[in-house]
Amino acid sequence: MAERIQIVGLGLATLDVLIRTENMPNWEHGARFDAFGFDGGGPVGTAMCAAARLGAAVGFVGTAGCDHVAGLKVELLEEFGIDLSHLLRRDQPEDQVVIVYVDSRTGERVFSGFGRPRDQLLRPEELDRAYITAADYLHLEGMHPEAALQAARWMQEAGKTVVLDGSKTAERDVRPFIRELIPYVNVLICGEGFGRALSGVEGLYEAGRRILEMGPRIVVQTEGADGSYTVTREDRFHTPAYPVDVVDTTGAGDVFHGAYIVGLLHGWDLRTVARFSTAVSALKCTGLGGRGPIPTFSQVGAFLQERGEPLPQG
Ligand SMILES: Nc1ncnc2c1ncn2[C@@H]1O[C@H](COP(=O)(O)OP(=O)(O)O)[C@@H](O)[C@H]1O
Ligand SMILES: [Mg+2]
Repeated sequence: MAERIQIVGLGLATLDVLIRTENMPNWEHGARFDAFGFDGGGPVGTAMCAAARLGAAVGFVGTAGCDHVAGLKVELLEEFGIDLSHLLRRDQPEDQVVIVYVDSRTGERVFSGFGRPRDQLLRPEELDRAYITAADYLHLEGMHPEAALQAARWMQEAGKTVVLDGSKTAERDVRPFIRELIPYVNVLICGEGFGRALSGVEGLYEAGRRILEMGPRIVVQTEGADGSYTVTREDRFHTPAYPVDVVDTTGAGDVFHGAYIVGLLHGWDLRTVARFSTAVSALKCTGLGGRGPIPTFSQVGAFLQERGEPLPQG
């Protein structure tokens, strides 16, 4: 793909500490783990790593601290060849860190982290408008609210595409800042519960159709091992997940987003884009960590070929 940066991600990049175990420790009992690792994480950070590994030219806009933890986090982004010229270093310890407990039996995970990274939020005046709007796609999540809104407005004025990761939610409502962002979003890809919380409507297709009236032209709701549900004005369809030997589902959704943008860059029809993203996420789930197991483009091609569903040529 081109040298020019095609996708800019603005959001969270974490250092994840992964512990895969059958039993969680409590204040009475410790617990053995059967796998351990460090990996990078964060919805936008990991989506950008996926897009880069799949062949896109990618930049990441966000913040990092200045200690050893921050150093490792930055190294784990550099490995993917992501442009980090607009990553701002703060003179403080890294606080975008997450402990991830992975259930050995199911691969499902639960997170612990700071309630909210404290002082590392980007301010709108720190953004480089020309850098961001030179990209075709801007990818956002819930981190850096004011900066995300500013960047989304600029992209809309520039006629470019904004993609939002609406995270899985059990809440009845979504944060006010996310509601404010929705009119600037062209492609909404969200986790379980988000569509219902945003629209107030039950039913995946029904919620999706309601969200189309709020701004986005594509709504994809991901439902873990049940795959994903896409809604546009012209079409609606389910894309089943690929059955694989699941080790760890951490980052499945994040990687799906990065792959989805790469699929759109290829100009494929949306069923192919969803199938491609689903394959990338399935392969991700076969290893520990959000980023380490992300496949290359040719590995995804081979996976789909073996299943008699090859990618379009060229
Ligand atoms: N256990 C699994 N087996 C196969 N594919 C999965 C599994 N869990 C997730 N995926 C794939 O990853 C996509 C995103 O996963 P999901 O669990 O919805 O997101 P999140 O990471 O936000 O929890 C799903 O639509 C599916 O295609
Ligand atoms: Mg999941």
